[in-house]
Formats: sequence, C-alpha cells, structure tokens
Amino acid sequence: MSSAIVFTEYGGPEVLRLVDAEPPAPAAGQVRIRVHAAGLQPADSLLRSGRFRTFMPARFPQRVGNELAGVVEAVGPDVDGWQIGAAVLGPAAAPGAHAEYALADAAQLVAKPADLPWSQAGALSASGQTAATCLFDLGIGEGGGNGEGVGKNIGEGDTVLIHGAAGGVGSMAVQIAAARGARVIGTASERNHEFLRDLGAVPVVYGPGLAERVRQALGAAAGSTPVDAAFDTAGTDDALSASVELVADRSRIGTVAAAADVERYGIRRLSTRRSAEQLRSLVALTEAGRLKVSVQQTFTLEQAVEAYKELDGGHVRGKLVFVMP
Ligand SMILES: NC(=O)c1ccc[n+]([C@@H]2O[C@H](COP(=O)([O-])OP(=O)(O)OC[C@H]3O[C@@H](n4cnc5c(N)ncnc54)[C@H](OP(=O)(O)O)[C@@H]3O)[C@@H](O)[C@H]2O)c1
Repeated sequence: MSSAIVFTEYGGPEVLRLVDAEPPAPAAGQVRIRVHAAGLQPADSLLRSGRFRTFMPARFPQRVGNELAGVVEAVGPDVDGWQIGAAVLGPAAAPGAHAEYALADAAQLVAKPADLPWSQAGALSASGQTAATCLFDLGIGEGGGNGEGVGKNIGEGDTVLIHGAAGGVGSMAVQIAAARGARVIGTASERNHEFLRDLGAVPVVYGPGLAERVRQALGAAAGSTPVDAAFDTAGTDDALSASVELVADRSRIGTVAAAADVERYGIRRLSTRRSAEQLRSLVALTEAGRLKVSVQQTFTLEQAVEAYKELDGGHVRGKLVFVMP
C-alpha cells in the first residue's frame, strides 16, 4: 500500500484526506513513478472546490496534483526510452501527483539533472510550461510546444509586462522573458519587490494607477504605449485595463486568469500546452543558471490541508511543493 491525497466531496482544503491506496498500474505508454516531490498549483484547488466540475468532473475518491519529479518504478507496455530507476520530471498522466506513487505518460517526461534539487524539479513542469507557452504565444521566445503562436519574437530592448510576477507562473515567466533578452516589468506587492529584482524584473505595485506607475518605471511619457507585450496571471481589472493602456497591439496581450474578460478587452485567452521538447528547453535553462524554481515552502503529504490553505490564500511567492522522504 501507499499514501495518496484524495477528496470525496467538493469543498475547501479541509476535505482533503491522506489515504492508503494501491500503487496505480501503468497502462500502455505510461510509467509508474515513486514521487520525490510534487508542486501545487491553483488548478489543483479548482478541481477540489468544484469550480472545474463542468469540464473536468471529479471521480471520487479523486486524487490531486499535476506535476512531479521522481524515479521510474514500473514501466507499462509500449514504453520506449525509460527504464526502472530513471530520475525524471514532468506532468502526471492525470491528477494524482500528490501521492507516493503516480502515473505519467512516458512521452511527456524528461530526465532530471542530478544537481537539480528534487523540490525544484517537482515544481517546474506545470508553471514552467504555462509560462513558456504563453510567452511564445505573445511572441516571446521559442519552444511553444506545437509551434503555434504569433511568431513575432521579441528581442533585446523590447519590453514585457507580467502581472502576478511573484507567483508560480509569473516568477518563471519573468526569468524566461529576461533570458530571451526582454526588459521585464513585474507586478507584485511591495514585500515581493526584492524577489522580483533578483529574478530580473523591475517591480511595480499592482492596483489602481498601475499604467502610470509602469510608465514612470520605464521613463515613458504620459499616455504613451511603451510596453510591447503583457502577460496576465492575476486576472484583475486593474491588470487588464493597464495592459490595454500600455500595449498598442492587443494580440500581444494575453491572460491565463481572466477567461471571462477577454472579449470585453479584445485580448487573448492563453492556455498551457505541454511537450517534452518544451520541458527539456526549460530544464536546459535551469542548467544554464537562467531559470530557478523558487520554492517558498515544502510540505509533507500529511500537511496537505495546511499546504492547500497557503495556496488558496493567493499570495504564494514562487511555488509550494510536497516532498516525500
Ligand atoms: N489556463 C492555464 O493553462 C493555466 C495554467 C496555469 C495557471 N493558470 C492560472 O494562472 C493564474 C496564476 O497561477 P499561479 O500558479 O502563478 O498562481 P499563484 O502562484 O498562486 O499566484 C500567487 C501570486 O499572485 C500574486 N497576486 C495576488 N493578487 C495579485 C494582484 N491583484 N495583482 C498581481 N499579482 C497578484 C501574489 O503576489 P503578492 O503576494 O505580491 O500579492 C502571488 O505571488 C491562476 O489563476 C491559475 O489558475 C492557468
């Protein structure tokens, strides 16, 4: 038997339970992983709370967790390239990474570098692939998975605004955009400004008056549009209205957090795409020292309720991660 976090009814973090469960059996194309670390993301809470129920209904007892790092422990039929004992990272095949054992699609996994700490490896794939995909779709960088995107790559001296820059997606987007040569403005509360500077962004406080503060930070004239692209992970009206004031081309404004507002603002609804190719390029950035997964706090599986309460508070700096002994 092994431990897994599950919920058997929709609700707040308190509906989560750590239960004994059979390790899942890998189907064709899958491997079973002994999980060493697994990041949390808001989507895990949306599944648990029932807000995802129309397009992704829970199947009780429902497991949670979308990203992991661990060691291949069993290999299903038709799997090429992975053998028992391989250290890997990537997405879980279905929610279930917050457990001692989880399944993953072999084709989505990449090798974990030996010197990348488990806690960082287990928290890279979901937020990292969202950041990379969305920046690509806004014309920044390479490796957008299936190759879609507007194809207007940003270069040295171009400027990108990232809303929610201290969060899981935002903190990786800041670093990826900076690594691609962009000048990055990031929004966060004051307490995260030193953190943003360390990541490579010019920090600006969010809230009313944001557009003017961004212009001041850039030394730009009142009423000007000095930002080339804006990526919103915060989903607030302040973020979206500042974006349309600051960016002339609305096809280069996108959100992952305010799907209901995209038509009103005439901006793009962005979403993640996963590919091992894209994930490998993120791992390469970590190896080059250009991308660091900032881990605010680690938790054991026994601390699931505490971990999810922290996530649901909406002010995580970087990532929260379950680590398994
Ligand atoms: N569609 C997709 O494919 C997809 C994929 C991944 C994520 N998402 C969505 O993207 C959003 C962000 O995800 P995440 O993992 O980055 O979340 P997260 O890590 O929980 O974000 C927390 C961050 O949000 C910041 N924040 C809170 N209120 C803010 C505001 N009004 N303005 C700017 N920043 C604010 C906080 O900074 P302070 O503490 O400084 O306030 C904190 O650092 C979520 O809505 C998530 O569901 C969508």
